[in-house]
Amino acid sequence: MKQKHWLWLMLVAGLVMSMPSAQAADPKELAATVCIACHGPDGNSLAPTFPKIAGQQPGYIEKQLNEFLSGKRKNDVMATFLDKFNKGDVPGLAALYAAQKPAPGTVEDAKLAAAGKKLFDEGNPDSGVPGCMGCHLEKGEGNDRYPRLAGQHQAYTIQQIADFKSGKRSNDKAKVMRSVAERMTEDEMKAVAEYIAGLQ
Ligand code: HEC
Ligand code: HEC
Repeated sequence: MKQKHWLWLMLVAGLVMSMPSAQAADPKELAATVCIACHGPDGNSLAPTFPKIAGQQPGYIEKQLNEFLSGKRKNDVMATFLDKFNKGDVPGLAALYAAQKPAPGTVEDAKLAAAGKKLFDEGNPDSGVPGCMGCHLEKGEGNDRYPRLAGQHQAYTIQQIADFKSGKRSNDKAKVMRSVAERMTEDEMKAVAEYIAGLQ
């Protein structure tokens, strides 16, 4: 009898150990139990410092999640949840959020948004800020190389540009966003974020 028990134990242990560590969980369940707390039930966060991720480009979501996991992009809030998912979950999560409908943002200051539109479309030739639409496209929708910005919360957009400028965020390939942000003033960040919030 005793021997039989051992056999069982070894069988079960062997099974557990042979399970791939990066096995994917159901993305819907992960979203509904973990991500929902900050990114909302449909990827449209309510708190302005938590990014909306609904309708974001899937390749960009994958890149960001993998870089949070590897430590290339660091954030104290996201850091507390990094043990809840792994690399294997990333493609499923990216596909799930990319397919969700982005909620429009709210423009609170039309004059500021108009100044932001000029910068977004044309850049600032005096300081060398390039127009954002050159990469993020005309309506800020992005593509498989550049993230969607349209409709994002002002506070989050401002924070990211400021973090690129200070170098706190440094996961952009070839410093592409850092070299844009380092030329921007605080007023330009606020104006362009106001305009971006109103893009759909
Ligand atoms: C406790 C709050 C919290 C939870 C839970 C959370 N996030 Fe986040 N998430 C954040 C914050 C804050 C940021 C912005 C980080 C920064 O400023 O760099 C972020 C950033 C992101 C980004 C990058 C967005 C962008 O536009 O660059 C993605 C993608 C993301 N989270 C997906 C997820 C997924 C998927 C889950 C669930 C597995 C999750 N998050 C759980 C707070 C959270
Ligand atoms: C030469 C191309 C290029 C130009 C021009 C550009 N960006 Fe970007 N931007 C990028 C890339 C690439 C990323 C993604 C970096 C990464 O992989 O994390 C990015 C990321 C961002 C993000 C972070 C998005 C998020 O969800 O976290 C913001 C905000 C942003 N850009 C705003 C702007 C603004 C505003 C302008 C114009 C003043 C601008 N960008 C011009 C290439 C560009």
